[in-house]
Amino acid sequence: MPSRGWSNSLDLYGGRGAFIWAHIYTGTMDKFVIRGGNPLQGSIKISGAKNSALPCMAAAILTEDEVILENVPQVRDIETERKLLESMGAEVELGYGRAQHRTSIRCAVLSDPVAKYEIVKTMRASSLVLGPLIARTGMARVAMPGGCAIGGRPIDLHIKGLEAMGATILQEHGYLEARANRLKGAHIVFDKITVTGTEDLLMAAALADGESLFENCAREPEVVDLAALLRAMGARIEGAGTSTIHVRGVARLHGARHRINPDRIEAGTYLIAGAITGGDLHVEGCNPGHLGAVMGKLEQCGVKLDVSKESVRVRAGDRLSASDITTEEYPGFPTDMQAQFMALATQANGTSLVTENIFENRFMHVGELNRMGANITVQGRTATVRGGARLQSAAVMCSDLRASAALVLAALVADGESILDRVYHIDRGYEHLEEKLRGAGAQIRRMGEVFARR
Ligand code: UD1
Repeated sequence: MPSRGWSNSLDLYGGRGAFIWAHIYTGTMDKFVIRGGNPLQGSIKISGAKNSALPCMAAAILTEDEVILENVPQVRDIETERKLLESMGAEVELGYGRAQHRTSIRCAVLSDPVAKYEIVKTMRASSLVLGPLIARTGMARVAMPGGCAIGGRPIDLHIKGLEAMGATILQEHGYLEARANRLKGAHIVFDKITVTGTEDLLMAAALADGESLFENCAREPEVVDLAALLRAMGARIEGAGTSTIHVRGVARLHGARHRINPDRIEAGTYLIAGAITGGDLHVEGCNPGHLGAVMGKLEQCGVKLDVSKESVRVRAGDRLSASDITTEEYPGFPTDMQAQFMALATQANGTSLVTENIFENRFMHVGELNRMGANITVQGRTATVRGGARLQSAAVMCSDLRASAALVLAALVADGESILDRVYHIDRGYEHLEEKLRGAGAQIRRMGEVFARR
């Protein structure tokens, strides 16, 4: 008997909201069954960015007023963050009906500023509450995130930055115990570019006493999105989107309403889905301005792209050519698209080199792609993909969010019916993946225990 997901109770939400959200609370043992061979046609609409919505939800900690977020994707990580905020005393309401992507958060009282291990262990981004909690309440108790499938993923730079702002942070029994009277602005040069580290310190600095200057910051659109929300809440921030950010701390932040950016990684994944299946697909509701490196690489591979303001039409060219990628911080080629690009490279003519520069162990998908007939070898940080493989269906295992997306892409072109196990990894970050793909002509269904579905 397959076990149910952790949030399989309608009581968690109550009323109609429960009905709308229930579709993501599927059994942890769900599988996807995908029959390959159908070119994707029509259109797919892109959801809000999970990696923007997560820090924006954490930013609500900084005020007692209501923060309303629109275009929040209905994915498992968002549900985990809701649980996390509620466990601290926040009121979080997930929208329903026409407002189903709206989330309202009110952190009037944070009675228990603790991020418990049971919640943090399922989502590393939970460390994003550290900065806002210290800034707002003067204390925080946050479980140390463990490693994950793609590497050790330390948060030493978050800790170092908060200490420079006056926090005292001790590590005890797997928890970080942090205290500060009021954080003070600081001049911090990040040793390494970190996305959530930049976001964490930005939130802390917004309420700190005095000015902060951050250098070597992440320039990702998600940082810009968070800064836009913080500014709407009354924060004084300049330079988000560049490597130098200047923050003048204020004594109080107020409520705000903010719309989350479209998810550039989801959009990139569907662009590759259109290309790999030889389809003709409109990827709609995206921001092509955030997809420069991915689209540039696809064009080098011979994929045809027609770009308009908020959509990209993707068509396979006459032949797919091999091309090398190296993952880099934004605006470089995103590590979160590396696995999906590798799936595409298995179908290209020639050999592609894929170099992973951001995470130490992000080739978990290679073994599974090879089991489907790909020819990929890994040496250190570089994978050599010999293209032109005829992929065959297989039973494969999802290991992390983006690796799973690569397996979906491979299964869409494989001969026969593939079975993808542990699709809860996909549910962490892709909203309605199977429904979106099915709407564009893919043969994909979810198998396993589903507690409640629309
Ligand atoms: C974020 C994204 C993730 C993406 C990654 C890189 C979210 C919720 N997640 O993760 O999808 O793959 O950016 O684009 O936004 N590092 C340290 N010390 C630290 C922090 C990071 O050494 O304190 C290292 C990491 O191990 C890694 C590199 O810095 O090698 C970049 O990691 P980072 O940008 O922090 O990734 P996340 O913010 O966790």
